[in-house]
Amino acid sequence: SPAAASPASDDGPAVIAHRGSSGIAPENTTAAVRAAVRQRADVVEIDVQRTSDGRLVNFHDCTLERTTDVEERFPGRASYRVSDFTWAELRTLDAGSWFDERFAGEPIITLRDVIRQLGRTTGLLAEISPCGHYAGTGLPEQLAAELRSIPGDVDDALEDGRLGVQSFVVADAQAFQAAMPDVPIGLLDAERPTEAELLELSTWADQVNPQFTVTDQALVDRVHELGMEINVWTVDEPGAMRRMRDLGVDGIITDFPQSLTLRG
Ligand code: G3P
Ligand code: CA
Repeated sequence: SPAAASPASDDGPAVIAHRGSSGIAPENTTAAVRAAVRQRADVVEIDVQRTSDGRLVNFHDCTLERTTDVEERFPGRASYRVSDFTWAELRTLDAGSWFDERFAGEPIITLRDVIRQLGRTTGLLAEISPCGHYAGTGLPEQLAAELRSIPGDVDDALEDGRLGVQSFVVADAQAFQAAMPDVPIGLLDAERPTEAELLELSTWADQVNPQFTVTDQALVDRVHELGMEINVWTVDEPGAMRRMRDLGVDGIITDFPQSLTLRG
């Protein structure tokens, strides 16, 4: 499996914009993706789910209430799960006002919309959402097909470490890996992985992506010894950013990429 997984350099860890620059714009929208590109994040992290009619969309929560006006637009629906809505329905929602009135009308966008906005230098880290269990449903294969449309040449993007996929769900990560083996694959983990888990991961995964709060020097060193990379989330405080950088992590997933891209 590929060695490069994120465009870390001598300048420090890759700066990965969590749901776009979600600290300053509504998460997973065009506004957040554009802000991340503008702020020179190395990579944009997004969350991939599927609509009831098979469109891959960029949305974090399993249901729509927190970040859209769905309850006003579709009152009394039995379910507000993303997967119970068609793309035609989802695209009518306002996914910006909850964050700030300045973003009123900002729509939900598709994975293809995200890819179109990246340009040829900003990378993509696509998370297969844990809201569905997608192995065996065709989603990993569809994700692979859509990633092949990344701007420029997919091989160039891979060579530059501009493309990656991650999931909390082992079966989903492995199904994607089977569909597109050249793309670095990461397993997300909220807990600190045990030695046994790390050994098992090293047989197939390229990245171990834990919550930063469980990440220490021993973990970073062990992941590296086993030939994998480590991207930590979600690191928003300057002190924590410095601490993670000093541990030698490969990528820092943050809502505020500018705090890191402004480094000297
Ligand atoms: O990229 C890591 C992070 O996004 C995982 O958690 O819930 O924000 O998708 P969550
Ligand atoms: Ca995510």
